[in-house]
Amino acid sequence: MDKTRRLIIAGNWKSNKTNSEAVALVSELIRDLANVKELDIVVCPPFTALSDVSRLVLESNIRLGAQNLSDAGYGAFTGEIAPGMLRELSVRYVILGHSERRQFQKETDAQVARKAANAHSNNLIPIVCFGETLAEREAGITEQIVETQVRGSLAGLSVEQMEMTVLAYEPVWAIGTGKTASSAQAQEVHAFVRQVLTSLYGESVSRRVRIQYGGSVKGSNARELLGQPDIDGALVGGASLDSKNFVEIIKNSI
Ligand code: 13P
Repeated sequence: MDKTRRLIIAGNWKSNKTNSEAVALVSELIRDLANVKELDIVVCPPFTALSDVSRLVLESNIRLGAQNLSDAGYGAFTGEIAPGMLRELSVRYVILGHSERRQFQKETDAQVARKAANAHSNNLIPIVCFGETLAEREAGITEQIVETQVRGSLAGLSVEQMEMTVLAYEPVWAIGTGKTASSAQAQEVHAFVRQVLTSLYGESVSRRVRIQYGGSVKGSNARELLGQPDIDGALVGGASLDSKNFVEIIKNSI
């Protein structure tokens, strides 16, 4: 089993937590996770909390992520966030192409690819999300959908950029539903994605890319999921909003 890849567990807070709530949550995480050195820990608060959370995590083992990024730089793009704004706050990661953005903001693979390139050009590490809906799984086209999203969302990335990129397989039917993919179901898709990466970038790159699983991850299922050979971490939604739950996931993954 090739688990030379360092696990990465990220909390996607989505559109939750005011600035003061975010400060309270991250303060608890800093206290309770201070001794964890075995894996990478990331929190992704909403934009409005990045500044204060950034100051708090600076001296800790917790890294900061954002939940979206413009595909452009500074300029007349109302409502957009340019990479330099995130860099100044020591943001290291940025979630891109989350299924909620694909669904509600109609983000396309091509847009995600432009954002991923923009992230890399500015020393931000994209966490690129993909995953099938329940209808697609039931129609037996999971691999086809996942392959199209992965190829399209990574289009144009260089080998060096690909090695740094984090992927997140998030079956849409498992997000916020309490219905987790079984570890075998998740492993099957992760192994398939690694094959796709091999065909795009060769085996040595493919072996180095970290692929997170996301979708109703909690303390009770983290160990089993992250024990799979091709699952290299978790992207956690609901359970990352409560420090006890998030800490439990991390402690159970070590
Ligand atoms: P839940 O953990 O709430 O299912 O959300 C998963 C997710 O979408 C993380 O990005």
